[in-house]
Amino acid sequence: MIDPPGFTIRAAEESDRAQFINLGRLAFDPARSQADVEKEGQDEPLNPPGGQGWVLADQAGNLAGRYRHLELALFFQGIEFPMAGVAGVAVAPERRGQKIAQKMIEYALQQFHEQQIPLSMLYPFQHGFYRKLGWAWVGETHQYRVSARHLPLYSERVNVVPYRGDLEASIKAVYHKAAQQHNGWLQREPNRWKGYFKPEGGEEIYCYAEAGDLLGYMVIEFTHLEPTKTQWAIAVQEWVALTAGAYRGLIGFLASLRDQITTVVWNTYPQDPFPHLLSEQRCDPTLPPQPFEFGLTHRFGAIGGGFMWRLVDVVKALELRPIHPGDPFAIAFHIIDPVLGNQQISVEFVEQKMYCTQQSAATRITLSVEHLTQLFCGMRSASELQWLGEIEVEGDSALISKLDAAWQATPPFCWDFF
Ligand SMILES: CC(C)(COP(=O)(O)OP(=O)(O)OC[C@H]1O[C@@H](n2cnc3c(N)ncnc32)[C@H](O)[C@@H]1OP(=O)(O)O)[C@@H](O)C(=O)NCCC(=O)NCCS
Repeated sequence: MIDPPGFTIRAAEESDRAQFINLGRLAFDPARSQADVEKEGQDEPLNPPGGQGWVLADQAGNLAGRYRHLELALFFQGIEFPMAGVAGVAVAPERRGQKIAQKMIEYALQQFHEQQIPLSMLYPFQHGFYRKLGWAWVGETHQYRVSARHLPLYSERVNVVPYRGDLEASIKAVYHKAAQQHNGWLQREPNRWKGYFKPEGGEEIYCYAEAGDLLGYMVIEFTHLEPTKTQWAIAVQEWVALTAGAYRGLIGFLASLRDQITTVVWNTYPQDPFPHLLSEQRCDPTLPPQPFEFGLTHRFGAIGGGFMWRLVDVVKALELRPIHPGDPFAIAFHIIDPVLGNQQISVEFVEQKMYCTQQSAATRITLSVEHLTQLFCGMRSASELQWLGEIEVEGDSALISKLDAAWQATPPFCWDFF
């Protein structure tokens, strides 16, 4: 039993369908009618494989809130991590501000913990709300809105072909191969690809192939960015390149559209060399100007504050994660966790692995589960957190740089939204 009294959290059942859909509509699509939204979802299972819905309901079956637990997996440092995605959190408008969302998330976390899931991920409506529950911002994205004329016309563009039905399996294979080599990309189950190859109006897929071998692709969307809608832009919603040739080919292809397309919106991860390839390091000058407020500097890109991760079963997560080799050392982590309870875990760093032991290590780091998650995924370094006073180190502080070296990683990025 939880607050408000008389409510329980349970798995969504078929009899909840209309209310479940309606709560989602009121939260995410309130301008549409209930009938329209229900009709659209009539053939969809309420609980698709790996996507159990959960509800907070009173005894009469009235729903006050709902969310979905997505059983997913993602790649990190070459390893596949089981991951619990949290999606579609919605609370009835008349029940807002009564900590219903908080209760549901706390419940979900307890369940993930019981199921020994190492990691959870979500796209927050507000980072602060989830931060209080131990989630950490780790999903930084970069976006460049540049003139198609400033992109290089790489000759590899001649290998770009439009998507055809027979390329579906090769696109999946290219994604899968790239996903294993990147941090944070999802292991896409068949359900994740649903609808992918039937793009909506304005969306196209272009592929890069050499001698019949698919090496890259991108999903593009034609759109207008300026109020007069006189110029066309392409927003690249996903791009995958297994080789430099494929990368150059896809960029060169976009450059070759310069007579039709004024602006290219390139969505990407921070480490992408894309900004270095342009002939001008600035936003497309034909877009309405936005001042930058810093000397003689042009606006060039934008940073997106995206998804959050949270370590759930910390021992599982640590023991799965490879580390960079170095001299062995040990650290005791005293972890402050507002939902799952504080805990102390001693970790031995040996060769390329971590082992969690009973024996308390001499050097102790006290930190929140949020900061531990950021360190774990390479988003921040222990030296930086120590400098800021956000973690407390007792014992040998030389171990901080050893920890940074062991955990060095490219922070995660993800093409999928949920
Ligand atoms: C977002 C939503 C689920 C929240 O539901 P709710 O039950 O009203 O939320 P709760 O009462 O549990 O939690 C709100 C608490 O978080 C706090 N909070 C919200 N944003 C915060 C932030 N950025 N930083 C810190 N605290 C924050 C609120 O102040 C409140 O705390 P208080 O009661 O101490 O003031 C609900 O408003 C909703 O359905 N919105 C529309 C759909 C949506 O955006 N879903 C989220 C998708 S991830």
